Amino acid sequence: MTQNSLGVAVIGAGMVGRAHAAGYRAASQLYDLDMPEIRLVAVADAHEPFAVDGAKRFGYQRAETSWQAIVDAPDIDVVSVAIANELHRPVVEALLAAGKHVLCEKPLAPSVDDAKAMVTAAEAADTVSAVGFSFRRTPGINAIREQLGAIGPVRHFNGHYWCDYAQNPGNPMSWRYKGGPGSGALADIGSHMVDLGEYLCGPIASVSGAVFQTFTTERPVPLGATVGHAAGAVGDTLEPVENEDIATFTATFASGAVGTFSISRISHGLPNGLGFEIFAADGAAAFDLNRPGEFTFADHGPDGKTNGFRSVLIGPQHPGIDKGIPMDFPSVGHGQNELFAWQARAFLDQVAGTGKLPPVPSLADGLHNLEILAAVTQSALNHGQAVSLI
Ligand SMILES: NC(=O)c1ccc[n+]([C@@H]2O[C@H](COP(=O)([O-])OP(=O)(O)OC[C@H]3O[C@@H](n4cnc5c(N)ncnc54)[C@H](O)[C@@H]3O)[C@@H](O)[C@H]2O)c1
Repeated sequence: MTQNSLGVAVIGAGMVGRAHAAGYRAASQLYDLDMPEIRLVAVADAHEPFAVDGAKRFGYQRAETSWQAIVDAPDIDVVSVAIANELHRPVVEALLAAGKHVLCEKPLAPSVDDAKAMVTAAEAADTVSAVGFSFRRTPGINAIREQLGAIGPVRHFNGHYWCDYAQNPGNPMSWRYKGGPGSGALADIGSHMVDLGEYLCGPIASVSGAVFQTFTTERPVPLGATVGHAAGAVGDTLEPVENEDIATFTATFASGAVGTFSISRISHGLPNGLGFEIFAADGAAAFDLNRPGEFTFADHGPDGKTNGFRSVLIGPQHPGIDKGIPMDFPSVGHGQNELFAWQARAFLDQVAGTGKLPPVPSLADGLHNLEILAAVTQSALNHGQAVSLI
């Protein structure tokens, strides 16, 4: 902390960096008014127009074009790292060595070895570090998690993250298509679903039956800077796609529950289709990110004539909503951007010692997640063999 205030920066002003930048801006308006002053200091992006746009749009004092400028800045205490996965390790290690608090995007790193080194760096540092499994902030998911004890042990978790960002073979090559088996749909969006599976059902004990498939094997190189999944002008040069469009696998949880996971970046018509079903001994629940302001739930409550899945509308009786949105009235609703504001607030609370929210997962949690993804990849590369994790 610098003079009773926290200076904040975001590295990467692409798709998710903007959500981090906006999240810090909103964070002190949420929940209790006990935060130290939050100074929005810098947005950094190697592509200067993105840095300038991000700084101006979200009210940050300055734009930077190198992450090293953030590392060296004495007026910055807290940094989000929102750049391509292969850049996470060098940037996070440098930030931690410079005494910054670091919130790194998921997946924590491109490999288990990189993630181990980052955890070691975090242990040696005197600061707070975390990994951005932002869906853990979802009120509907937390509402289901709160009810799991009441509907008996979970027997089956069925999770899917179905997106369509890679469906068009003409969309430009980007860092998302590089890095070998397991670094595609599995790492990009499957990492979230694996984390949610464990968040809801406890540790995964083994994975098996993994299948990876790639349908678009080369993509055109973009002519300019790209953001997220956006289409853009491309040239005639093609580069090979190095990772999977689809990843499916089965898991067993240490509890004995069974998990089925279906991950795709080529699901027609579903830009952001995260969802899951949970079947427990005495009830069931389901969540669909396309309808984040509700979840469905079934138990033995009503008699047989009217019993079945019912929709529950999210409101201040559920986790995170009370003072978490400006009009915190039942059924007003929220979207995915709010998750980043809630995550930013939880992280700032951890740094300032004012925390009442559940903490943001640690770098060790990010490493653990990568170990599961590595086991899934091992299964896929060996005809679906079972891989034990505990
Ligand atoms: N939690 C979530 O829901 C979520 C959503 C999207 C992405 N992500 C993660 O966030 C990270 C970034 O993803 P994205 O979709 O925002 O990527 P993106 O490609 O949209 O943005 C990355 C940005 O980094 C910039 N950049 C490249 N090299 C740089 C450097 N050396 N220094 C500074 N900036 C540099 C690029 O110009 C670009 O603007 C990834 O790890 C991804 O997995 C998480």
